[in-house]
Amino acid sequence: MNTSEFVFKGSKKNIETATYTWQTPSNIALVKYWGKSEPQIPKNASISFTLNNCHTTTKINFTKVEKQTTPLFDLFFEGKKKDEFKPKIAKFLDRIKEYCPYIFDYKMTIYSENSFPHSSGIASSASGLSAIAMCLMSLEKELNPDINPAFFNKKASFLARLGSGSASRSIEGPLVVWGEHPNIKESSDLYGVPFSYEVADIFKNYQDTILLVDKGEKQVSSTVGHNLMHNHPYAENRFKQANDNLEKLSKILQSGDIKNFINLVESEALTLHAMMLTSNPYFILMKPNTLQIINEIWNYRATNNSNICFTLDAGANVHVLYPHNEKEAINQFIETKLSVYCQKNQYICDETGSGAKAL
Ligand code: PMV
Repeated sequence: MNTSEFVFKGSKKNIETATYTWQTPSNIALVKYWGKSEPQIPKNASISFTLNNCHTTTKINFTKVEKQTTPLFDLFFEGKKKDEFKPKIAKFLDRIKEYCPYIFDYKMTIYSENSFPHSSGIASSASGLSAIAMCLMSLEKELNPDINPAFFNKKASFLARLGSGSASRSIEGPLVVWGEHPNIKESSDLYGVPFSYEVADIFKNYQDTILLVDKGEKQVSSTVGHNLMHNHPYAENRFKQANDNLEKLSKILQSGDIKNFINLVESEALTLHAMMLTSNPYFILMKPNTLQIINEIWNYRATNNSNICFTLDAGANVHVLYPHNEKEAINQFIETKLSVYCQKNQYICDETGSGAKAL
């Protein structure tokens, strides 16, 4: 695997202090990534909708210091110093050091906040790590202004991936593929690429309402979860199925075949959970209310001839997906019928977005 293009080629300018702020989104996978090998190489290709309203805003102050042997940084989350989050960032910086050696020349002060409630069960690693990656790339571009915008995003996604696989899909939007696939142009295991084929109108401005069924800490961290796919009895079939599903979904997105979209997306969600049900140790990540919601969605779809469907992350929350033209009716259904299954009746209205924004 050739990663040499991502090694920093050297500074052309001396920068003493700099501050950059980026807002980067969360994403929701339609074809799921579950299973990886070192260093953060996915076992299958995946595709996600980039979200718009669920995002992280991160500001990093860089101050030049004597060259360090380990990166020097402080971390503030939602206004408070968070030393407990530092090991994850330290590990990320360690993974990217050969590509971004300039991190040893600066003291970094990182200020981060999420638009969604903390511990809402919504994974913040994708938006959080992609935001740091974008700030680092802003510094890199100032050190070497020759970098073009395409390489900027590609390397940001490459770096974000080394922090959290799904973070590689949080740089651009509204649809991003990560993982090499023979039928998706330019796809790579090293970084995410925007889905480059023309998408049917029905899939534009797609809506995602996230029902907060369980806001607690994740029962299974994604590191543990991915590891469960090693020696999993169904692993090889699953990886093949995911790649086949991506190929099918690519055609569906282009043709506008929403019935098959619903079938494929729901099957992917349930398969992800089936992998955890059938691993050893085994986990049930859905809660009773997750199942109640799924049944309500199926009832509503059947009785209203609707195109509502659901997907799931590695947790109990439900992402309700539907086309923009059903927004009014489905919002009412969610408020009256589904919110009762959410903790404190809470849910987040979101839709597809275009990716990272410099602030
Ligand atoms: O990026 P990670 O390591 O947190 O893994 C994310 C895995 C899922 O969210 C369950 C699926 C996906 O493709 O995003």
